[in-house]
Order: sequence, then structure tokens, then C-alpha cells
Amino acid sequence: MQHLISLKDWSTDEITAILDLADAVKAAPENYRDAMQRRMLVMIFEKPSLRTRVSFETGICQMGGNAIFYDMATSPLAAGKETIADMVKVLSRYADLLMARLFEHRHMKELAASAEIPVINGLTNFNHPCQVLADLQTIREKKGPLAGLTLAYLGDANNNVTHSLLYGCSKVGVNIRVGCPADPSASPLPAVVADATAAGRAAGAEVVVTHDPAEAVAGADVVYTDSWMSYHIPKSQMAQRVQQFMPYQVSAKLMALAAADAIFMNCLPAMRGYEQAAEVIDGPQAVVFDQAENRLHAQKAVMLRLLGKA
Ligand code: CP
Ligand code: NVA
Repeated sequence: MQHLISLKDWSTDEITAILDLADAVKAAPENYRDAMQRRMLVMIFEKPSLRTRVSFETGICQMGGNAIFYDMATSPLAAGKETIADMVKVLSRYADLLMARLFEHRHMKELAASAEIPVINGLTNFNHPCQVLADLQTIREKKGPLAGLTLAYLGDANNNVTHSLLYGCSKVGVNIRVGCPADPSASPLPAVVADATAAGRAAGAEVVVTHDPAEAVAGADVVYTDSWMSYHIPKSQMAQRVQQFMPYQVSAKLMALAAADAIFMNCLPAMRGYEQAAEVIDGPQAVVFDQAENRLHAQKAVMLRLLGKA
């Protein structure tokens, strides 16, 4: 039994196979309309969501299965009456597949350790693997073969999406340059950078962390940013973070330093005037809605794979 907890655990071949399957599912969804017949996906949420919640439910329903949305706030676990292990052992008796969006990554690992069914990480404070599978599918669609491309990530880099981009890009040969403040609280975790650097060495990709936003984006094929106010960041930190990250806002001026045909990506939700200028996300280089759509196709591929239907 396989889980999707982190792209760190998935090989280059496994990631590429998911991207290929995601393309096949996107091209001919009718070929998969019965693939999940009578399969039940339970979706556990501790945090808000639009894309993850709706794309997973739509995805399994389009393949003949069903989904249950389970709000963790209403659980015996949240009431302090049950352990994660007991909860997941019970869910394993009802459902075929589990997707969870949690705060703590260690809770995701605990969940997977006791699960008798495959578990998909729908985001933790630490990473967001489903997002990055959809992102790689999008990049390949727009830019062709991944190996040798360069992605620049700007902004809050002590971030789940950044960590998954580091794992994912380095494994498939995409050079990744992270531009972020020098403060460790805004930088990717050193252990992730070390893992990505080693994976990149094997795949021919370079991993760079810089504090100069212009250096990060120079000539890049993809410019990527994410919220400065991730779901787990307290609102009280907003003013201080806006000040800290503003030099890394993807402005039209910074975007102009990337390759002339560069694409702009944001996993969404996005705030105009913060992590990017409105003219960038609403401009011709932005592919954010194709990126959001690919969550549906990439996650169908993940579900098919984890249930042995690939
Ligand atoms: N990108 C993403 O995961 O969006 P949601 O938070 O809306 O699920
Ligand atoms: N980094 C963001 C991603 C949202 C999909 C967050 O954790 O809120």
C-alpha cells in the first residue's frame, strides 16, 4: 500500500508516471468514468479550502465514486476524546481512500502510520504534494519537457508549497531558485534544501536560495509565488509580514526580468497587491486557472494510482 505524504518519498519515475496519467485522464476523462465505482473517499479538513475540497470530490465523483467531507472541528478527536490512530483505524473500515488537510505534518504521518487504506496529504504546514503534481503537469503543458527549465519562487519560502516545489522540481530536473528574506522564519527548511540539492544533482537540476529577488527571477521560465498569510499564520502577523515580504512581490518589473515567454503561477488563493501585483496575476503570462484546473486531473491520477487502477 502506498500513500502520498511527501514528494520526498516518491521517485522521479513515480512522479513522471503520475504526470503522464494526469495528461491521459485530462485528454479522455470518459475512459475513467467507472474506474472508482463504489469507492469512498473521506476528506478530513482542519483548515479552509476551495480547490482541494472541490477538486477531490469532483474527481472521485467523475470516476464513479463518492466523497464525504469531514470537518475535523466536529470530530471526537478535536474534542479530546479519541486518538488519531483510533480515528483512522475506524475510517479504514468504512472508506477506500483518505485525504487530509491538517496543520501538523507529524499528525499526517501518524495518520498514515495507522491507516489500513491509502492516505493523501491535502496540505500540512510543511508541504503540499498534490499542488506540486498539478503544477508540474501545468508547467509541462505550457513549456514542454521539464528537464532543464528554471522555476523561480518568490516570497514566503518557509512554506508548504515551496517545500514541495523543492522536492518535486529537483527530482524532475527543473532548476529552482528561491528568492526570500534572509530570516530563517521566511526561508525553506535547510533539510529540505539539502534533500533537493542532492536530488537535483542526480537529475541535473540546480537548487539556489537567494535573498535577491532579481537574481531569482533572471531568465526564469516560470515565476511562482504563494500567499504571505498561509492558513496557519495568525492575522496579527499581517502588517509585519507585508513589510518583510514586499521586496519579493512579483511586480511587472520583476516579471520583466524573467524569460520573455515566462509563465506566472500561484497555487491560489491569491491576494492582489500582496504576493503579486494585480497586473501580473490578471495579465497574459498568468496560468493560475489552468493550474487550478489541473488539481482535478493530477489528483484523479493519484487516486487511480493509490487504488491500483493506474
Ligand atoms: N491551492 C489550494 O490548495 O487551494 P485551497 O486552499 O483552496 O484548497
Ligand atoms: N501556503 C498556503 C497554500 C494554500 C493552498 C497555505 O498554507 O495557506
